[in-house]
Amino acid sequence: MVSVLIIGSGGREHAIGLALAKSNQNPSLYFAPGNAGTATLGTNVPIEATSISELVTFAKQNSISITLVGPEDPLVMGIVDRFEQENLAIIGPNKLGAQLEGSKKWAKQLMTKYNIPTAGYRCFTNFDDAATFVTHHDTFPIVIKANGLAAGKGVTIAETKASALTALKECLVNQKFKDAGLEVIIEDFLEGDEASIFAFTDSKTIRPMLAAQDHKAIGDGDTGPNTGGMGAYCPTPLVTPELYEKVNETIFKPLLAGLQKEGIHYKGIIYAGLMISKEGDVSIVEFNVRFGDPETQVVLPLLETDLVSIFQAIYNETLADITLKWSAESAVCVVLASGGYPNNYEKGKVISGLTTTNQESIIHAGTKQENKSIVTSGGRVLGVVSKAPQLTNAITTAYQCVNDISFENMVYRSDIGKKAARYN
Ligand code: AMP
Ligand code: GLY
Repeated sequence: MVSVLIIGSGGREHAIGLALAKSNQNPSLYFAPGNAGTATLGTNVPIEATSISELVTFAKQNSISITLVGPEDPLVMGIVDRFEQENLAIIGPNKLGAQLEGSKKWAKQLMTKYNIPTAGYRCFTNFDDAATFVTHHDTFPIVIKANGLAAGKGVTIAETKASALTALKECLVNQKFKDAGLEVIIEDFLEGDEASIFAFTDSKTIRPMLAAQDHKAIGDGDTGPNTGGMGAYCPTPLVTPELYEKVNETIFKPLLAGLQKEGIHYKGIIYAGLMISKEGDVSIVEFNVRFGDPETQVVLPLLETDLVSIFQAIYNETLADITLKWSAESAVCVVLASGGYPNNYEKGKVISGLTTTNQESIIHAGTKQENKSIVTSGGRVLGVVSKAPQLTNAITTAYQCVNDISFENMVYRSDIGKKAARYN
């Protein structure tokens, strides 16, 4: 009997659970800590994603066959090293490999060393030096990034010298991001449209997945502050077959070769955040060491290869034997969020309309069961996922389903997936 422990509690983890549940290996699924949606697929275990010792004990006591890590924090903390010390099977990079997301400076140095296209950059730990650099700089915008993990809030696109100086001060003087912001990267601004491509790797072979596009801004037309992601669709015509090949040849293959040369045994998922210029040039905005959220909600429903077998092949280093098969359909995910998100918002709002629609297309993120109701417990609450032969039809049915769901102060974007039409 195969059992899989999925660490995390977001829409991504619910989507991973749904994909695993389709496996003909019929796995038992455990989620730590999970949400109200994952509870319908398996067992929620009340252990936080960063409580590594407790997770090790749980995996041992319950003879978990394989563990998949959803979020970045436990990976950067070294959860994989701890599981491996105990001979527990786990999917994800070790602490050294997780620096690809945990230290933007380390990632930049690796990209430079192995000729992976990315924006030019400088690193600073001293405010005066950084301020002098910005003062003498004359092309704006410029991008200021905290080096470490900052829960998606560590990046400022500074349109002016004054806003660049403010961002630098927040990191280096006011220590807004604590240790994560004690070093900053000042990066050239890249123009273009963004896409995300994830890849599976067992450290020897790399297998890219379909390209997806996230919608980071809170408002329609990409307006307002950035969020964790308000929706996604897959595949995106922004990434043409030629461009996909280029990403494989100029990004994924050199990255894997570079990791090998550095002696890093990377087994898990690599997320390439891409910027694609009008001319068709592609650069890395960032690498992440995990599946993305909400892109996973639209990539995995199109995967026809057994995800349990893929995880086993990653662990056993036999990914070369697996070819990924994909549905020819398109998928879209519309995120329903709590009013006020990405800033302050209220929790505990009763959600209605969940029982009248097809459960399989409703992905839970910030939800929890309270007595007989499902209530909101986070900024991003639900994701409505729909699949159809044509993206436009998937979008229509997703929004029909959105209409049935409600909770107080529910907000969502009404234009998810519409930008695909621009690239056709
Ligand atoms: P990151 O956390 O590095 O992915 O940055 C968050 C978001 O900031 C990205 O998804 C982009 O929208 C934007 N961004 C980051 N770096 C750049 C850059 N060099 N040029 C333009 N936009 C950027
Ligand atoms: N969708 C953005 C992220 O997962 O980082």
